[in-house]
Amino acid sequence: MSDHIDSTMSTGHVDGARMQTNQPDADALVLFGATGDLAVRKLFPALYRLERSGVLQVPVIGVARSDWTDDDFRTHARESIAEHFDDADPTIVDSLCERLDLVQGDYADETTWNELRATLDRHNSMVAVFYMAIPPTMFPMVATKLASVDLHRRGRIVVEKPFGRDLQSAVELNKILHEVFAEDHIFRIDHYLGKEAVEDLLVFRFANTLLEPVWNRNYVRSVQVTMSETLDVEGRGSFYEGVGALRDVLQNHVLQVVSLLAMEPPAGADSGYLQDEKAKVIAAMRPIQTDALVRGQYVGYRDEPGVDPNSNVETFVAVRLEIDSWRWAGVPWYIRVGKAMAQSATEAVLELREPPRMLFDESGGPPPGRNLIRLRLGKNDGVTFALQAKTPGPDLDSQEVDVDVDFAAALGERQDAYERLIGDALIGSLRRFARQDIVEGTWRVVQPALDDPGHVVPYFRGSWGPADADDILLNGDHWFAPTPD
Ligand code: BG6
Repeated sequence: MSDHIDSTMSTGHVDGARMQTNQPDADALVLFGATGDLAVRKLFPALYRLERSGVLQVPVIGVARSDWTDDDFRTHARESIAEHFDDADPTIVDSLCERLDLVQGDYADETTWNELRATLDRHNSMVAVFYMAIPPTMFPMVATKLASVDLHRRGRIVVEKPFGRDLQSAVELNKILHEVFAEDHIFRIDHYLGKEAVEDLLVFRFANTLLEPVWNRNYVRSVQVTMSETLDVEGRGSFYEGVGALRDVLQNHVLQVVSLLAMEPPAGADSGYLQDEKAKVIAAMRPIQTDALVRGQYVGYRDEPGVDPNSNVETFVAVRLEIDSWRWAGVPWYIRVGKAMAQSATEAVLELREPPRMLFDESGGPPPGRNLIRLRLGKNDGVTFALQAKTPGPDLDSQEVDVDVDFAAALGERQDAYERLIGDALIGSLRRFARQDIVEGTWRVVQPALDDPGHVVPYFRGSWGPADADDILLNGDHWFAPTPD
């Protein structure tokens, strides 16, 4: 039984995410790891966007060990923004930089925490967002140190992934964080939940009466989810060695997408109801069976800097999942993720069953293809229905036609994931963050593959992974070529 009624009761506001929160707006944003890689790649560009849209109205206090001045920090932010926006507006960059302060010091050192507290006092802050853009090994220490200067009562934390490295470590991390923060003050990031296209799965499923009748085992024959990247580990070999594709993207991003595709409609708009339905469908997922799992490694991975020459870490995973719910029992869910693949794509494909009888195959040719619903979740997000239509000519034969919507063309520019997630944390909305039971549930699903991973099978860069990935397919199924990003 969840505690969502208490923790996320609506305030009666009517606008979007704000409706989901009963927490006060934040009056400061504290960035731990402010001089690190994530800040440069994602956080400063997101802050620029938030400043541009007028949402960022609070001081931003970086905390970092680097021996930098406030000015160094501001220059760093300017450089990050310039790297991401060709046409950054200098007035907006200036107003963002005016918000920036740096608290420099060792995280283990008491004076750093006193200084942080004094800085927040100076800004009269009572509700800060503490964003942990730091290595996960430091999460417990930072949470405890915040409590040591009594700042835990003055804010909420945002925790970056990976949240644990298996079920046990995730449970332990939750326990440590709960000693300091209540569950509704812990915002666990999975940036896929911040993507418009991923969130659209909810709207697409539950705002279209057309789809719900067929969205189940009676009409769906199989579901495929592909998350392929042409990029390799890009010099992050030593990080990747401790992770692998299962922990890096499958346990989090992909299982979040699967839960949105598979869950029942939530009882209402409240964030807790959505989380409850996700938790239920994750509980119905059978733990991965190792005979339905293929792990691959691209040839050349072992030569990457920081990688063990005998590494058994996977850069590719194909797995067949089963969801033992009334809606999905018996339907195979084929998942494929990988680096250094033929194409970048993030796509879910539902293959529908064939009609009971083919009435129109007059020429005696091959039977018509089955209907597909392709949901593109990457850069070219959109949806394609592959339907059958009559082939022109005297016979009643059919052929595939695509009914396609490109969301960017149809709907215009969408917000960036980090922009939305930081904006949500500032207003205290948990809707796009991962609740404890969901994170632990996804670790439970992948745990057998971590305990008994077996060997990795090599594959060539630029391929679709090892041919062995076909072995997990049932009923003569094949992998669909995904629509490239
Ligand atoms: C990250 C992984 O969480 O997601 C990366 O650590 C991966 O390895 C990235 O490349 C993919 O995110 P996106 O938004 O580019 O699909």
